[in-house]
Amino acid sequence: MRSLLFVPADGGAKLDKAMASGADAVIIDLEDSITPERKQNARAAALEFLKAQHAAKQRPRLLVRINGLDTGMTDADLAAIVPGRPDAIVFPKAEGGSSVVHLDAKLTAQEAIAGLPEGGIKILAQAVESAAGLFAAGTLRDVSRRLIGMTWGPEDLSAELGAETNRDEHGMLTEPYRLARSMCLYAAAAAKLPAIETVYVDFRNSDGLRRDTQDARRDGFSGRLAIHPAQVPVINEVFTPSPEQIAKAKVVVAAFAAQPGAGAVGIDGKMFDRPHLVRAQRLLASIGGE
Ligand code: COA
Ligand code: MG
Repeated sequence: MRSLLFVPADGGAKLDKAMASGADAVIIDLEDSITPERKQNARAAALEFLKAQHAAKQRPRLLVRINGLDTGMTDADLAAIVPGRPDAIVFPKAEGGSSVVHLDAKLTAQEAIAGLPEGGIKILAQAVESAAGLFAAGTLRDVSRRLIGMTWGPEDLSAELGAETNRDEHGMLTEPYRLARSMCLYAAAAAKLPAIETVYVDFRNSDGLRRDTQDARRDGFSGRLAIHPAQVPVINEVFTPSPEQIAKAKVVVAAFAAQPGAGAVGIDGKMFDRPHLVRAQRLLASIGGE
């Protein structure tokens, strides 16, 4: 998934707009974009929308972001929306493997109640958006077959730290948030899961979004959260490998195939070893290649 677009669950026409945005996934939000007094209506709206989409042949993946385990709202969220059979749950403020196991168990119960096959609904963990989550992010490996990726969030982290801002005067993340972003990348790699870059809140600034998303791709993220439909084409483009990148990856794979048993090969006067091969194979796999 390259682009995952948030839309408030009670957003009405915005929901249809999100589905037509070209996003790989739409995240129906029950958490921060919905005030407490709107939660109940938002759950009902989310269920109705999910059910209406079942017949669609080609559609973005549908995810629902629930309220975190410490809010007391998780069970009501899940009871309301699991019968709508979302593709996945976005799990805010996850705190390591034990919290994912906890959510997995709740989903298993709700799937049983709704008469759905066990394990069908996946989990995307917002694994680094609290201090405790950051320290526990390394414990997500092999904890649940539902887990499909992880992401992070500087806004919640800065609120928790009591920080004045999370970006400097040039718009760059300050040190505590660069650390959190890196932790998300390492935690995802350790768990062998895709890392999804956080939102870019300045949604009218498409040049800034492009640069920031190119940095994300460079560093190993494979997709990005979005908050506005205008962000989707930019994110999709950046995370779609260029013909040159694809050609280069094919050359690397072919060079290793031509020399079975070689630990390193030379291509155009440069050394390529196993990590290069893995990267090339991953790029080709991401476009459905070998
Ligand atoms: N999904 C679908 N459609 C959206 C959208 C979204 N996330 N954000 C904006 N739109 C629609 C608007 O409804 C508007 O539609 P219209 O032309 O038919 O009226 C159009 O895109 C242009 O919107 P714009 O005027 O540029 O923005 P806005 O001021 O209406 O909305 C936000 C700004 C931030 C409130 C809105 O983008 C939003 O709700 N984003 C998601 C917020 C969220 O879910 N946050 C939680 C995760 S951090
Ligand atoms: Mg958050």
